[in-house]
Amino acid sequence: MTKPKVFVTRIIPEKGLAMVRDVCDVDLWSDELPPSRGELLRRVQGAEGILSLLTDRIDGEVMDAAGEQLRVISNHAVGFDNIDVNAATARGIPVGNTPDVLTDATADFAFTLMMSAGRRVLEADRHVREGKWKTWGPMLLLGAELHGATLGLVGLGRIGKAVAHRASGFDMRVIYYDPNEINHDTDVNASPVDFETLLKESDFISLHTPLTPDTHHLIDAEALSLMKANAVLVNTSRGPVVDMDALYEALRDHKIFAAGLDVTDPEPLPVDHPLLSLDNLIIAPHMASASGAARGNMAWMAANNLIAGLKGNPLPNCVNPQVYK
Ligand code: DGY
Repeated sequence: MTKPKVFVTRIIPEKGLAMVRDVCDVDLWSDELPPSRGELLRRVQGAEGILSLLTDRIDGEVMDAAGEQLRVISNHAVGFDNIDVNAATARGIPVGNTPDVLTDATADFAFTLMMSAGRRVLEADRHVREGKWKTWGPMLLLGAELHGATLGLVGLGRIGKAVAHRASGFDMRVIYYDPNEINHDTDVNASPVDFETLLKESDFISLHTPLTPDTHHLIDAEALSLMKANAVLVNTSRGPVVDMDALYEALRDHKIFAAGLDVTDPEPLPVDHPLLSLDNLIIAPHMASASGAARGNMAWMAANNLIAGLKGNPLPNCVNPQVYK
């Protein structure tokens, strides 16, 4: 029996890739960098399934380039702002994502950034390596304490809640604002507030909202101007939720204390970007979910979604279930 043809846009952990290879005729893009637009349009031709990454823009043009036999798009990520879901729905193509399995890894990393930006861990490391450590100093590298501080969560989905759970171990007061206006029967100790209150009262602000037209530049110059001077801003969601130029100015002028970014706009951030000249910024290359366990489980979940779609079964995690109606 011939196997269905699929295009996999990058090497993913073997836990998922082996499953896909078992069932499919795999065209695997094995470069370190994503396929160019031209390569993507070429390689999807004739594919019945696409296993994509958040770095691939999968829109109507790509779907049409693939052809009418395209039956499933499976994203190896929980976020799916790289996919034109409306275009997929209009063509009756289910789109899969990988929720839950990266929640704890991402929440851990949001905390890592809060603590390391607040307590100036990278500055401290540089201080020692550069031979500046002369003696114990009562005023040396003073930072922001998590214990008892107010944590403002923007978005209280799975990851926001997991961050709130961790915050209880630090006796933090947790407040949240959800731009997606989800109704929360919350099992975490967090109080809803409006956006302005969150900005004005939080010592730490952590972003956990999907990127939508409404959340694009949600953290802009005005939002930053409302934050406390001791505020630490952390973003593990999507880069464009924060206006990078406004953040640069706020950090440069010490309008807020520090920031920790796992995501930027653009990605990667050019090495000569002004943000990278600042000491009060800690930055990572979009790796909050990068634990071996989480990435393996994401690959497994993406493979399951792909295979289900190829078999004509409902995807275990489908972002546009209306295709089944
Ligand atoms: C996602 O899955 O959306 C993260 O940004 C990467 O793991």
